[in-house]
Amino acid sequence: VKGGYPTFMDKEIHDQPKAVADTLLGRTDEQGNLQLDELRIDEAILRRIDKIIVVACGTAAYAGHVAKYAVEHWVRIPVEVELAHEFRYRDPVVNEKTLVVAISQSGETMDTIMAVRHAREQGSKVLAVVNTYGSTIARESDAVLYTHAGPEVAVASTKAFLAQITATYLLGLYLSQLRGTKYLDEVAGYLTELARLPEKIEQVLAREEEVRDIARSMRDVTSVLFLGRHVGYPVALEGALKLKELAYIHAEGFAAGELKHGPIALIDTGQPVIIVVPTPRRPTLHAKVVSNIQEVRARGAHTIVIAEEGDTDVEPYADVIIRIPATPTLMTPLVAVVPLQIFACELATAKGLDVDQPRNLAKSVTVE
Ligand code: M6R
Repeated sequence: VKGGYPTFMDKEIHDQPKAVADTLLGRTDEQGNLQLDELRIDEAILRRIDKIIVVACGTAAYAGHVAKYAVEHWVRIPVEVELAHEFRYRDPVVNEKTLVVAISQSGETMDTIMAVRHAREQGSKVLAVVNTYGSTIARESDAVLYTHAGPEVAVASTKAFLAQITATYLLGLYLSQLRGTKYLDEVAGYLTELARLPEKIEQVLAREEEVRDIARSMRDVTSVLFLGRHVGYPVALEGALKLKELAYIHAEGFAAGELKHGPIALIDTGQPVIIVVPTPRRPTLHAKVVSNIQEVRARGAHTIVIAEEGDTDVEPYADVIIRIPATPTLMTPLVAVVPLQIFACELATAKGLDVDQPRNLAKSVTVE
């Protein structure tokens, strides 16, 4: 069942190229245009919406955070991302011009189910991005865009996260095609980039042992900070969540730009900091994060840097570098998160913990 891997999580990390490829599969017509037939929401309604609100919890919410960057850029309408349990018990501004996107691997997360019901009561259309066929969220939504990650057994979500980003990117490109905010050849260009991702994820997996060595060398750490900027920010949050839930190590993710507003006070000699660096082909973003690495290093941090192949600017300030293949900015989360998953998985294994079934957690949280 585990495909020869020691744990489901190891298997599911290795399933990721296929999860992305399968989520892309069959979603274009013969001309290469995006065809999301299952969207069963009237095109006139999708043309009229003036806001998207993503509701989700945990890792699924971080996928929503990533999607916000891409969808706003492509579709030019505001995207809010809200934890489903917070959305439900305040008085959110939602109406028939709002598209609520509920992201959930299981489709059974009670907090997200309640948010879906609330949104529909307010007259919003709800689109579910779920992995489990026939699940409650799939049944109770107006339409479903399935992620095709296959069954995810380990409590810590890995391949569902990548499939959720892929599916929400397809949604964003579809809306930009429908609403004319991107030319068709631009949409095709992004689809081509997405199609290259499975191969790039394989390249990251090929360096798995380097990441595992780093994790083993850090098995006694008690706190790890994660920094990222732009789409690297939700990746940092996801890296921290994986470490907390699997290895029971205190971990926090920060927006790199926020460091100077407080968190930098945490940096002391030897504090491990993992930094997700944007591609050098976005020089303004890149330079800012490189200077953040420099700042934490100058205060004694042990810096573990996730950087693109050939990025030499990080070298003077990195204690350790984990290389990822060159990837366009918006696609980076799909490769940059993989070493963070491996890192958390190996650290937990090195500590002798149950990787698939961490303490106190359930795979699907069916209570509010
Ligand atoms: O099934 P869902 O995607 O709705 O689950 C949401 C969260 O409970 C889930 O992502 C949780 O945070 C995972 N344990 C993260 O690894």
